[in-house]
Amino acid sequence: MKNIKAIIFDAYGTLFDVNSAAEKCKNKIGSKWESFSNYWRTTQLEYTWLRSIMKRHKDFWEITEDSLDKSMKVFNINTNMKSELLDLYKILSPYPEVKETLQLLKEKNYKLSILSNGTPSLLNELVSSNNLKVFDDIFSVEEVGIFKPDSKVYDIPVKKYKIEKREVAFLSANTWDVSGGGNYGFNAIWVNRNNIIFDNLDYSPENQINNLKHLLDII
Ligand code: LAC
Repeated sequence: MKNIKAIIFDAYGTLFDVNSAAEKCKNKIGSKWESFSNYWRTTQLEYTWLRSIMKRHKDFWEITEDSLDKSMKVFNINTNMKSELLDLYKILSPYPEVKETLQLLKEKNYKLSILSNGTPSLLNELVSSNNLKVFDDIFSVEEVGIFKPDSKVYDIPVKKYKIEKREVAFLSANTWDVSGGGNYGFNAIWVNRNNIIFDNLDYSPENQINNLKHLLDII
């Protein structure tokens, strides 16, 4: 991969494990914790897309709560767990290789940033609670008031850094976000952690890695 000037990461699912909140409560939730967590995540994402199409933006934290309310009803989970799950969502754990990989990339002097649906305060808290203070910038969709994969979101770092789309290495574990960033013109890299199948959305990522550490082999 040549002429990369900025390495830009998606946050939820790519740097931070979205299942870690429910997993930390698995003794209380029981064996359905993982199905519940996947349903919560899917509902949360659907709400971002639907709100973007309906032009009814609400921030990611409100959407996280709205989708949690529905998911708790669907999975019959006691409402007294709500605040615990939301508090844990604010301090999601990073994937095991994230910290070391970011540190090694930082030493190579790449510009490193996050581009995420999260609000600025959520993203700052995730970065500081996990002691990942390596980022030059944390870009939030709140700057443009619409969620990924709207191209206005992917425009944010291109405008800020005054660089070409192809000079951005954009990493996401979310297939639809890889399709969004790739269709936009980024050099998109799919972090395929669970060996799943890619989308049929007229874009195939040129690069695929199974965890972030392998970025160091291709960058
Ligand atoms: C984000 C979601 C897509 O961080 O994971 O933007």
